[in-house]
Amino acid sequence: MSEPQQMPSFHSTPADDGQQELLVAVLDAQADLTSIKRMRAWASKALGVRPGEHVLDVGSGTGSEVLAMAAAVGSSGRAVGVDPNPRMIELADTRTGEAPATFVEGSAYALPFPDDTFDAVRCERVFQHLEHPERATAEIARVLKPGGRAILIDSDWSTAIMHPIDPTIVAAMQSIADDRTPNRESGRRLRGLLSAAGFVIDDIGSEAVIFQPEVSAPMYAAQVQAAVASGVLTQAQAEQATAELEQGLATGDYLFSVTMYAVLGHLPTAV
Ligand SMILES: C[S@@+](CC[C@H](N)C(=O)[O-])C[C@H]1O[C@@H](n2cnc3c(N)ncnc32)[C@H](O)[C@@H]1O
Repeated sequence: MSEPQQMPSFHSTPADDGQQELLVAVLDAQADLTSIKRMRAWASKALGVRPGEHVLDVGSGTGSEVLAMAAAVGSSGRAVGVDPNPRMIELADTRTGEAPATFVEGSAYALPFPDDTFDAVRCERVFQHLEHPERATAEIARVLKPGGRAILIDSDWSTAIMHPIDPTIVAAMQSIADDRTPNRESGRRLRGLLSAAGFVIDDIGSEAVIFQPEVSAPMYAAQVQAAVASGVLTQAQAEQATAELEQGLATGDYLFSVTMYAVLGHLPTAV
């Protein structure tokens, strides 16, 4: 098994270069996963961005989905990414090239745009990091024009599988993720959040993200160590989890996954 890595956290703005490089490497590796590509393709078709539209990606990370939307809106439209991490904004800017895309520093809690600015908004794997997700959906509703569409995509970490590690050990390891992922069952709450913000729900999709062992095994190893450090696992349980993980990897009997949900809605048009 590979060496354990530092535990990445998207919850707050990273403080050092090593953490930032790790976050970008994780996002780039995830963008290559077949399951993420399938979910994004479904979500993009569902959102149906058209030439000339003004569109926003909240928590845009490396900016890959802003660039995809920029291609859809064309030169008569505008695609914007917003993220509170200035280093992500800087990175996304460097990847933009000639695309009609811009990146702005800001939070989902206080989107730096006037009311009624956008035709469509997407937000992927951000709500799990928000302590107050209802404030984010209110902001998304505010910046959308009447009739505007939104799609929220997020994981529900209670659906995570780390086979063949003993599920009771997995549950204990998951419990320490709370500080970094305050809204870890976000996936199941997206529909209710959009409804409460005044959206009409149009569709719901889901995809189990299947993680590749090269990406997930070192992170799980780091999680085991963090669980021991925080006292939720004994050293003996950690050794058991590590042995089970190594055995699974050696025999090919492993499955690392989490279910993501995507909810599409639109605001009523003004009367
Ligand atoms: C797991 S990454 C997902 C990035 C991108 N949406 C994707 O799917 O590749 C989570 C992103 O949410 C951003 N984020 C964290 N807190 C946020 C907030 N309050 N408002 C907006 N974005 C936030 C992080 O900086 C990070 O870029």
